[in-house]
Amino acid sequence: FDKEESLSYEEAINRASGSIYRFPLVEVHGVPLMTPIAQDWSSIWAFSPDASDLLIATYPKAGTTWTQEIVDLLLHDGDAEVCKRAPTAIRIPFLEIQSPAPIPSGLDLLKSMKPPRVIKTHLPIQLVPEGFWENKCKVIYVARNAKDNLVSYYHFDRMNQSQPEPGPWEEYIQKFMKGNLGWGSWYDHVKGYWKEREKRNILYLFFEDMKEDPRREVVRIMRYLDLSLADNVIDKIVQLTSFKVMKDNPMANYTFIPKAVFDHSISAFMRKGEVGDWSNHFTPAQSQMFDEDYAKQMANVDIPFRTSI
Ligand SMILES: *[C@@H]1O[C@H](CO)[C@@H](O)[C@H](O)[C@H]1NC(C)=O
Ligand SMILES: *[C@@H]1O[C@H](CO)[C@@H](O)[C@H](O)[C@H]1NC(C)=O
Repeated sequence: FDKEESLSYEEAINRASGSIYRFPLVEVHGVPLMTPIAQDWSSIWAFSPDASDLLIATYPKAGTTWTQEIVDLLLHDGDAEVCKRAPTAIRIPFLEIQSPAPIPSGLDLLKSMKPPRVIKTHLPIQLVPEGFWENKCKVIYVARNAKDNLVSYYHFDRMNQSQPEPGPWEEYIQKFMKGNLGWGSWYDHVKGYWKEREKRNILYLFFEDMKEDPRREVVRIMRYLDLSLADNVIDKIVQLTSFKVMKDNPMANYTFIPKAVFDHSISAFMRKGEVGDWSNHFTPAQSQMFDEDYAKQMANVDIPFRTSI
């Protein structure tokens, strides 16, 4: 996509945004998904990647855009200009997204791109098309601690008009705990990829580790991609993918999406990007109730999540 194509694409989005509404969720194999995704599920499931394609998988609001930017920069030797060739959602197709949506259909975009491609998904592991595993594609998974992930998703649902209304905060906590949000249960999501990470060679990252020591995690991703960049290029990538720089990058901060769809005045797409912001939202009673339920839902697995760093 050159600049001109991405402009006409903006035009297209503007026109389409008249038909955007808060889609109800529809279950696909027990996982609630946005209506257009459920409607076109068979073509999404049938998608067959190339062995050279890379998948970035996350539960929504767990560090997806951040990881996409790091990967794009790694693959382009830290060239900031090349990585501003188009908005994130055009550079890295969102596999299951279907129109009408504020971003183009992932399958359509993928048809127009030659492998190797980087592909984004929020699908839980059991809904990832089989071809990714058959072709032994590389998969990067990013997990974020439940409480911060919940807070971030809540603010996102307030501003993203293609998502169901979040409703009051107290009720939102319940919906999260029950998995009644787009892409289903956070608990099942993080556990699903965790259990398969060794067998399927998934690079399993934590948002909190990325915040704590971004350079270490950038290097980890670089090695997984079998790349070896110069130290100064790595430093540059770390700097270009800091929250502050990405928030001001119009090709990463999602301001290209019309206000009718993403209302940044309600809450910015890139809001805080912090660890521990949950403590500004949960009351002590809510936190305790959440923790008790968490212990039950996560009893059968030991994933080293941190809620502070
Ligand atoms: C709207 O909401 C979904 C659910 O979190 C999200 O994955 C999607 O990326 C959002 N739209 C865009 C353009 O990011
Ligand atoms: C996105 O980036 C543009 C260009 O730097 C900036 O003007 C705008 O304020 C940013 N938007 C948000 C919501 O941070």
